[in-house]
Amino acid sequence: MMFTVAIDGPAAAGKGTISKAVAAHFGFAHLDTGLLYRAVGAKVLHGVDPLEAAQTLEPIDLEGDHLRTPEVAQAASKVAVDPDVRAALVAFQRQFAARDGGAVLDGRDIGTVICTGADVKLFVTASAQTRARRRLDELNAKGMGLEFADVLADVEARDARDRDRETAPLKPAQDAVLLDTSDLSAQAAIARAIAIVAAARG
Ligand code: DC
Repeated sequence: MMFTVAIDGPAAAGKGTISKAVAAHFGFAHLDTGLLYRAVGAKVLHGVDPLEAAQTLEPIDLEGDHLRTPEVAQAASKVAVDPDVRAALVAFQRQFAARDGGAVLDGRDIGTVICTGADVKLFVTASAQTRARRRLDELNAKGMGLEFADVLADVEARDARDRDRETAPLKPAQDAVLLDTSDLSAQAAIARAIAIVAAARG
């Protein structure tokens, strides 16, 4: 059985939490596509050419806490502007989506470019303030000691770059269901997402 759930949205809107929970609930595999761009970004920070980094990416590159830093997030957003880098990552994502047993992919362009025929498309949003607060708590829980204003500026810069780029910009697919998590607990957001997927499965 093939069943694809596409979850897109801006930075720190809750895509990761929702995607993991949906995948666990239905027994689907989950791919955080942001990790692909973060892994490329991390290599570029070490002097590797962006396209070469994208073309030679291996599963081991997607592991490790070093991919979760604000520096790597910005580097990811910068390499993600390059159409050749994006193109080099398409086949892997589509193969993942087509696996037997169902798949959840989260990112920026899953519903609009990678899996245009996805069975369910969700666009998860929240106000920039809410997203920055959540990301701050998440990063500081790992002992990073960041300031709210810096995290907010970071999130806004990344959103602007992700939205304004020419190739595969961040935007809801026409047939996406919008899920604003600003006033929802993680639990409530997860429950809504699961209900939407369950309805689509029939
Ligand atoms: O989801 P994330 O915050 O880990 O993503 C990091 C960056 O990667 C994001 O700012 C833009 C880019 N990205 C993308 O362009 N397309 C995707 N499908 C996923 C991420």
